[in-house]
Amino acid sequence: VPEPDLAGRHVVVTAGGTREPLDPVRFLGNRSSGKQGYALARTAAARGARVTLISANAALPDPAGVDLVTVGTAEELRAAVLKAAGDADAVVMAAAVADFRPAVYATGKIKKQDDQEPAPIALVRNPDILAEISARRARPGQIVVGFAAETDDVLAHGRAKLRRKGCDLLVVNEVGERKTFGAEENEAVVLGADGSETPVPYGPKEALAETVWDLVAARLD
Ligand code: C5P
Repeated sequence: VPEPDLAGRHVVVTAGGTREPLDPVRFLGNRSSGKQGYALARTAAARGARVTLISANAALPDPAGVDLVTVGTAEELRAAVLKAAGDADAVVMAAAVADFRPAVYATGKIKKQDDQEPAPIALVRNPDILAEISARRARPGQIVVGFAAETDDVLAHGRAKLRRKGCDLLVVNEVGERKTFGAEENEAVVLGADGSETPVPYGPKEALAETVWDLVAARLD
């Protein structure tokens, strides 16, 4: 039985990947399975926290003992995070949020036109929710954690992203075969705004989740 070191705390976790609809049958999405976010929610609940899990398109069973909020798009995720973050001690943004969405939503299915060139899809930028909640903390001392998937120069890109986003901790994953997207295992480095660097060896997503909560718990007063 783990130490109930998050008892009395409210934590918000986002999981999965947003889908940005083009028309009633198509969307722009990503390969996030939601497994890391669900592991974060489960482990926080086991450590005594009240957990709000905001889940975007994860095909996973509902975890016991957490408040589950399901969303589809980045805008819906943003609204759910802002609402839940109001009284949260920590917000962990494990979801893969689409950076762009289609500029227009076609209410009828887009038809293929055989004799025409394919039409380009115009995109507009989605809000950066992590940067937004980091900039205006809903309560003093709130800890904000981001995730970043990188393919090269992982630490340098991670440090720059941590500064840009303004969060307290950034979990940097190296994307590769058998790692990260859809996998059961993960390998990461957790960077702290205080300059700390915590390597997490290749292993189950639960182990990475426990390390994240260790670092969060140490930063809560
Ligand atoms: O910039 P990048 O997408 O690599 O950053 C990833 C982190 O930022 C994740 O924690 C993700 O949940 C968050 N994010 C966000 N809003 C976006 C894009 C990413 O909150 N529009």
